[in-house]
Amino acid sequence: MASAPVPENISEEYYQISEAILSSFPKYRPPLDLYTFKADIGQLVSYSRKGTRLSNAQVEEVYARCAEGDLYVSRRDHSVYSEHIVKQLDLILVDQNLKEAEVADISLAALETRLAAFFDQPVRPVFDLLYADCMVVLEYLWADVHRLRLFFRRLHRGDHTLARHSLNSFIVGLWLFSSQKSGDLRRRDFDQAGQALLLKDAGMAKVPSFITGKTTPLKPEEREKIFPHPLTGYKLMHKLEQSFDLMRQACLEHHERLDGSGYPQHSKEISSFGRLTAVADAFSAIIQKRPYAEAREPAEAARELSLDRTRYDFAYTGPLLAALLSDAFGKMK
Ligand SMILES: [Fe+2]
Repeated sequence: MASAPVPENISEEYYQISEAILSSFPKYRPPLDLYTFKADIGQLVSYSRKGTRLSNAQVEEVYARCAEGDLYVSRRDHSVYSEHIVKQLDLILVDQNLKEAEVADISLAALETRLAAFFDQPVRPVFDLLYADCMVVLEYLWADVHRLRLFFRRLHRGDHTLARHSLNSFIVGLWLFSSQKSGDLRRRDFDQAGQALLLKDAGMAKVPSFITGKTTPLKPEEREKIFPHPLTGYKLMHKLEQSFDLMRQACLEHHERLDGSGYPQHSKEISSFGRLTAVADAFSAIIQKRPYAEAREPAEAARELSLDRTRYDFAYTGPLLAALLSDAFGKMK
């Protein structure tokens, strides 16, 4: 079977599909068009159309071709392909053919879906799915923490939702955490920091949805209902056996401020991870469109926080502003 080198332009238009991905498709009815390489004409040709039922012999041939690296799908089918992977996120760890930007999109789509489900129903089975996907993304990022830059470019700027806000905080906080630790970054800390940043607002799941889903500014009595969420979140995480130090600090301290003006404890004694999470949380909120404010430009938001040294730790707001001013993340999507 074909083993001739495949021209460069083909790899731009088609993915070479791995056995792991192929075996995750329905065996007899692949959900997208399949192609194989015809060496004599130097082109990919259609093998089967999406949804076509394959015979036993064809299934065998498809698997054999795939094992030899001669099975492709078109990037035109990217939405089908990526939706498929969103539902089985661990495939991003084995798929060598997805571009890093595509993995970032898929990872964020998967986490957003899982987070929204968890905020809706904060129970063990829903949490387990979120946890599994979170660990996949952390493993992917750990392999090269610079991949965080592609995630950073994809910060949500549109309408505020709890899931999107949590994702933003995860990306910003994890970037701050890894750039601060740089040479001293350990896998376990990286994983725990990621989980904590993603779930610091878990307590908001217990706030009535007519408040969290409000599209107009909150009344004072509605705001009061939000104040317990740091503690509620920590208790919930404790129940889900996620009560490690970074989780505790992220949940309990992300609304505390250096001058004691925060909540719920009005504490001035805030752990360094609590201060980092506070910056990630505030920055993530300001750059999103909220019921009472337009989305701010990231550099402008970081500048505002960096000027507010009485409340936010400059050890985090400073590097965030510097990175944004030096265009370290590239163009935001
Ligand atoms: Fe919060």
